[in-house]
Amino acid sequence: MSILITGIGELTTNDDELGSLADAAVVLDGERVAWVGPAAAAPDADSRVDVGGRAVLPGWVDSHTHLLFAGDRTAEFSARMAGKPYQAGGIAVTVEATRAASDAELLKNLLLHVGEANRQGTTTIETKTGYGLTVADEVRAARIAASVVDDVTFLGAHLVPPGSDAESYVDLVRGDMLSAVAPFVRWADVFCETGAFDETQSRAVLKSAQEAGLGLRVHGNQLGPGPGVRLAVELGAASVDHCTHLTPSDVDSLANSATVATLLPACDLSTRQPLPDARALLDAGATVALASNCNPGSSYTSSMAFCVATAVLQMRMSVDEAVRAATWGGARALRRETGDGAVGVIRVGARADLHVLDAPSTTHLAYRPGVPLTHSVYRRGARL
Ligand code: NIG
Repeated sequence: MSILITGIGELTTNDDELGSLADAAVVLDGERVAWVGPAAAAPDADSRVDVGGRAVLPGWVDSHTHLLFAGDRTAEFSARMAGKPYQAGGIAVTVEATRAASDAELLKNLLLHVGEANRQGTTTIETKTGYGLTVADEVRAARIAASVVDDVTFLGAHLVPPGSDAESYVDLVRGDMLSAVAPFVRWADVFCETGAFDETQSRAVLKSAQEAGLGLRVHGNQLGPGPGVRLAVELGAASVDHCTHLTPSDVDSLANSATVATLLPACDLSTRQPLPDARALLDAGATVALASNCNPGSSYTSSMAFCVATAVLQMRMSVDEAVRAATWGGARALRRETGDGAVGVIRVGARADLHVLDAPSTTHLAYRPGVPLTHSVYRRGARL
C-alpha cells in the first residue's frame, strides 16, 4: 500500500544530495520511503494526502531516555527549584519505586511515555535500564523495554545501590548482570560522575560490555568536568551524553572522533546547570545530537520540540543545526543513519517516519516556542 504525500511547503530531508526542498512530495511504500522530489514530478500511489503547504521533516530521533520507571519525584523537583542542588543519589528513590512495581505497571508507564512522545513527532526512541540495579530487576527492565522501543541500553552502572559496596557492585554489573541482560540490549552505558562511578570503575564496566559485543554510550560531564568524554572517545563509544561541562581538550577530542556529543538541554534547565556550549562543539567540527533525557528525576519531558527551541533560543544553534541534531544527530548517535531503514533522514529506502508540522517551516519550532506544532506523524509508513 503506497501513499503520496503532496503539498509539502518545505521538506527537510537531511540527505546530502536532496537537501531541503520547496513544493515537494514523498511516496511511502509500506515501511519505507519509495520516492522523494518536486511535487510536479511525483509518481502515482494507491492513496494521496495533501498537507496543504506544511513543513515536513524526519520524525524526531530521541537517543537518550530513561522510561522504565515507576513513582514520582515532584517533591525533589520542587526542592531543586527552591535552591537544593541535583545529586546523583536521587536515582535511588526511583529504584525503590521501580522495584516495587509490577511488570504490567512498568509496561503501562513505558507505553504511556512512548505514546506521548509519538504524538509530538518522535518516531525513534532509545531507552535505558538503570532503575532496577539487581540482576532480576535489570533483566526485567531490559525485556520490557525491548518489547516496545527501537534501542535498549543497559545502565546497571547508574548508581551503586544503597547498602552495596562499590567494588562488588561493579563486579556484579560486569559479570552476572551483563550476561543476563545482554540478549535484550544493543548498548551499554555508565554514569561516569562524582557520586556515581569513577573513571576506573566506568572503564571496567564499559570494557566488559564491549567484550560482550555491546555498543557503548557514556553519561559524562553532567555535573562537573570529569573523565567521561575522554573515556568515551578512548573506547570508541557511539555517544557521550550530557557534555554540560567540557574543557577545550574535551571539545577537541570529540571533534576528532566518531563519538557523538549528545546534548540534553531540558535536563540542564531542570537541574539548574548551565547549558552546554553547543557552539564550541559545532565550530570545532563535532557531531551534535539533541535528546530529551526523559526521566522522572532530572528531565521529565518528552518534548524534542522544547529541546530544539531551547537550543536555538539559548544555545546559539541555528534552526537547521538544531533540527538536524534532533533527527539525523540522534540517528547517528544510535548508528541508524545509513542503509535500508535508516532513520533521521528522508531518502529512498529510509524508514517511512515523517513529522508534519502545523507550520510552513521548521523555523516556527523556535519562532513559536511552547506551541504544539505537530500536525501529523507517520511511523513505519502508518499514520499514528
Ligand atoms: O541522565 N545522570 C544520570 N541519569 C539520569 C538521571 C536519572 C535520575 O535522576 O533519575 C540523567 O540525567
